[in-house]
Amino acid sequence: MKKKVFSGVQPSGIPTIGNYVGAMKHFVKLQDEYDCTYCIVNQHAITVPQDPKELKARTRELAALYLALGIDPDKSNIFVQSHVPAHAQAAWIVQCNTYIGELERMTQYKDKAAKQESVSAGLLTYPPLMVADIILYNTDFVPVGDDQKQHLELTRNFVQRFNNKYAKEKDLLVMPEPMIPEEGSRIMSLQEPTAKMSKSDTNVKGFISLLDEPKVILKKIKSAKTDSSGVIEYDKENKPGISNLLTIFSAFTDKSIKELEAEFAGSGYGYFKEQLAEAVIAVLEPIQTRYKELLESDELDRVLADGAQRASEIANKTLHKMESAIGLA
Ligand code: TYM
Repeated sequence: MKKKVFSGVQPSGIPTIGNYVGAMKHFVKLQDEYDCTYCIVNQHAITVPQDPKELKARTRELAALYLALGIDPDKSNIFVQSHVPAHAQAAWIVQCNTYIGELERMTQYKDKAAKQESVSAGLLTYPPLMVADIILYNTDFVPVGDDQKQHLELTRNFVQRFNNKYAKEKDLLVMPEPMIPEEGSRIMSLQEPTAKMSKSDTNVKGFISLLDEPKVILKKIKSAKTDSSGVIEYDKENKPGISNLLTIFSAFTDKSIKELEAEFAGSGYGYFKEQLAEAVIAVLEPIQTRYKELLESDELDRVLADGAQRASEIANKTLHKMESAIGLA
């Protein structure tokens, strides 16, 4: 039997090239070898304020983007989190077996809480919902970027604890493993190359969204912060800007950073940036064309309805096992 892969993206903004390089690009590659489930995690998005109309539109847009990237609904299951109630139900059980101290230690919680005036309880209990997502599908591997590493550790701790406490003979829950790419697991902001690129950044020049038009992509790359040396070399400590651009270039062309350093030895940042923009546009343009077609078709709604049904069947089985183990069913 094929091993199982699960991952998700929040519809809290249009995905960036960071999301693509760190996670979504790999979703597509994994579907031939693994049994894959990809979720649009709209319930995670509401842990911070969202405009209802926008959230609804972005949820559907993200589904269209999944398909446009090449996720094939005949190979992988695609669905929206809120269409499968088992996620919230399992998350409650996870919360009751997770300690507040563990959640307060999560760096993503601390970072996001620092930016909010009033912090929702859901922001703190965000990771248990993520644990629920993963365990419900008997997941072996979770392709994610580096920023999700801590949440995956929490998931593994939970699985071990729950199995120790409640599994009578064989394990109740499958132990998942993170799949974090060696390169590109943390793409940085174009404007502040020591901070992570984020789809919810208020400075839109800091990120390239997968739906940015070619001329916007060129403009944003041209205005990316670099240094004054003009030498194209990878040195994350001292030259974070150009190092980030080299990482992006490598991810979009599958050329190694070494090859790129050799190719661009002696050319200036201006020329390098133009070539980088060209490489990014070459990948994103056909995706954007497919995306626009999909958004207008009702194929998308069929895929999501079917996906939710298939997901519910699997998720409800695991939920039932958990509920019987703890005496709720
Ligand atoms: P989200 O929506 O913030 O990001 C989606 C994926 O993109 C990765 N990522 C990045 N990778 C490289 N560079 C960056 N700058 C960058 N920014 C984001 C993230 O690591 C992620 O893999 N909590 C998750 C969503 C989630 C999930 C899950 C993931 C909910 N349940 C279950 C896996 C399994 C999140 O907020 O992703």
